[in-house]
Amino acid sequence: MKIECAKCVVRDWARSDKGALLRFANNRNVWRNLTHRFPHPYTEADAERWFSFLESMAEPTHWAIEVDGYAAGGIGVTLGEGTYIKSAEFGYWLGEPYWGRGIMTEAVRLVVPHVMSRFDLIRLESPVFEWNPASMRVLEQCGFVREGVSRASGLKDGQVIDQVIYAFVGRTAS
Ligand SMILES: CC(C)(COP(=O)(O)OP(=O)(O)OC[C@H]1O[C@@H](n2cnc3c(N)ncnc32)[C@H](O)[C@@H]1OP(=O)(O)O)[C@@H](O)C(=O)NCCC(=O)NCCS
Repeated sequence: MKIECAKCVVRDWARSDKGALLRFANNRNVWRNLTHRFPHPYTEADAERWFSFLESMAEPTHWAIEVDGYAAGGIGVTLGEGTYIKSAEFGYWLGEPYWGRGIMTEAVRLVVPHVMSRFDLIRLESPVFEWNPASMRVLEQCGFVREGVSRASGLKDGQVIDQVIYAFVGRTAS
C-alpha cells in the first residue's frame, strides 16, 4: 500500500530501508514507549528478522512512515483471531528527530480508515503507557476514545506501569 500524506508517505517496508530503520529504531526513547516486541538495542539481526517477518505474511500489516525520503518510523496492526477477528491492536513509532511536527497525527488519521476497511475491522485498540501523553494526544485527535486504565498491567524499563486503553470503533453491524 501507499498513502501519500502532506508530511509523510506511508508505504510498504523494503530491505533497502535497513539503514534508516537501524538509525531511527535504535533509540531508547522510542523503545521505552513500545512493548517487548520492539528490541533495544535494535541490531542488524533485528532488522533482518523484521524484514523476514513481513515477507512471511500473505499481506503486510505493518508499514513504513517515510519522511524526507527515509523510512523514519512504522505503523501497523496486529490482527485478532477467532473471537477477536474484528479487532486489531494498532501501534506506531517515529524516529525522535521527527517528533512534534504533526507527522504521526496525520499518518494515524489516514491509516485508520484504510486498515478498518482493508481488514474488515470494527475495533482498533491502542494501549498507551501511562507516561506517554504525546501518543494519547495523537489518538484523541484521530477519534480514538479513552476507555479506561488497565492498572499495573505492564512492566517496562523496570517499572510496573498502568496502561491507558484507547480504542477506535467503526461500524458495529456486520
Ligand atoms: C508518540 C509519537 C508517535 C508522537 O508522534 P509525533 O509525530 O511527534 O506526534 P504529533 O506531532 O502528530 O502529535 C503529538 C501531540 O502530542 C502533544 N505532546 C507532545 N508531548 C506532550 C506532552 N509531554 N504532554 C502533552 N502533550 C504532548 C503535541 O503537542 C501534539 O499535540 P498537538 O497536535 O495538539 O500539538 C512519537 O513521539 C513516538 O514515536 N514516540 C515513541 C514511540 C511511541 O510512543 N509509540 C506509541 C506507543 S502507544
